[in-house]
Amino acid sequence: MEAYMLGWASLLVRWLHLITAIAWIGTSFYFVWLDNHLEPPSPPRKGVSGEIWSVHGGGFYNKHKYLVAPDQLPEKLHWFKWEAYWTWISGFLLLVITYYARAGSMLVDRSVADISAAAAIAISVGMIVLAQVVYEGLCRSRLCNNDGLLGLVGFVFLLVATAALSHVFGARGVYIQVGAMLGTIMVANVAMVIIPGQRKMIDAMLRGETPDPIHGIRGKQRSMHNNYMTLPVVFIMISGHYPMTYGHDQAWLVLALIFIAGALIRHFFNLRHKGRTVIAYPLAGVVILAGVAFWIAPRPQSAAGDVVTFAQVNSVLQARCTSCHSSTPTQPGFAQAPGGIVLQNPERIAQLVDKINQQVVVSRVMPPGNLTGLTDDERALIGRWIAQGAVTH
Ligand code: HEC
Repeated sequence: MEAYMLGWASLLVRWLHLITAIAWIGTSFYFVWLDNHLEPPSPPRKGVSGEIWSVHGGGFYNKHKYLVAPDQLPEKLHWFKWEAYWTWISGFLLLVITYYARAGSMLVDRSVADISAAAAIAISVGMIVLAQVVYEGLCRSRLCNNDGLLGLVGFVFLLVATAALSHVFGARGVYIQVGAMLGTIMVANVAMVIIPGQRKMIDAMLRGETPDPIHGIRGKQRSMHNNYMTLPVVFIMISGHYPMTYGHDQAWLVLALIFIAGALIRHFFNLRHKGRTVIAYPLAGVVILAGVAFWIAPRPQSAAGDVVTFAQVNSVLQARCTSCHSSTPTQPGFAQAPGGIVLQNPERIAQLVDKINQQVVVSRVMPPGNLTGLTDDERALIGRWIAQGAVTH
């Protein structure tokens, strides 16, 4: 019953997380687009730096941008902040439900590091805080005047953290942990820099003073960081479905390259909004992705050796997998077969050979945290059976 309730909690929170993330990233993309498409107002109007006409959903819209602000503040002002806050709240809840509640298998992998579930959770939370502190420190250091160097140092820190985490957590937990660190930085940028800066500007105006432009400059910088992190973070959100990435021996490098490809593609759109179409950026992104795909492609397993019978493989599957992958799982915390994968009869196993190969032989991410103690010999046995044609009779 408890696992069943956890399933519902997971469903509802994941649903919410997706919706709020779409709303946040959607508005953020929209405002970047808007900013880059503004044209000088005609006729010129006092305080208005740009305007744009658009049509959507059967209505015409005429937006104006004021620099720094209109003479008179309107009574109703929309802030666009709860999308970001709720994305973080739901994201953290999802981390708790999916990873912390089952930390023993979802974060810990005893073949990587023999730590307790409590220690894994403490490390996860600690690293989220550490990443935020380091990033904030970098942004407030002298590097803040050099966007390129700041980005480079931040990126190197991220890679070192990812590589270090792969010696602490099981493969699947590492990417999500990095995603949680980046997502927290992004939301903190909104909550601690962008929104307070806007508030200070408004307060100054209400006092009849000219707002200090530094708040706008800082906010813009953080907002640009968020902009380039968006595509990589969304990749991490969906990466759990792709063990070929997070399950690779050099998972940190795979992540680094996909991160760069995402940022390059985002850069293309940022330039394009400003009227510059530089195809080289997305092209470089695609070349990098293709290179990664080629590099991490599964090497054919050797079929050489004794012929493996289905009976041998089946006894391994029944011993190591069906505590979870059964119509009635016995593993605590599992109410139903994860991913709908039931490994109890030969016909179904035959249909799932590709997936089993991907999860067990190529990326070695199943069983999670190697909870049921699948040995290397057993893994090799399954690999050889598949290489020999995966006969199930
Ligand atoms: C401790 C529980 C547990 C054990 C034991 C376990 N798995 Fe899994 N398995 C999971 C979870 C959790 C997922 C992820 C489901 C998801 O992503 O929604 C999963 C996913 C899978 C998938 C992929 C589903 C997809 O959609 O691609 C396959 C295939 C798989 N497991 C095979 C195995 C095999 C083979 C074994 C035994 C060697 C095994 N698992 C042992 C929990 C387990």
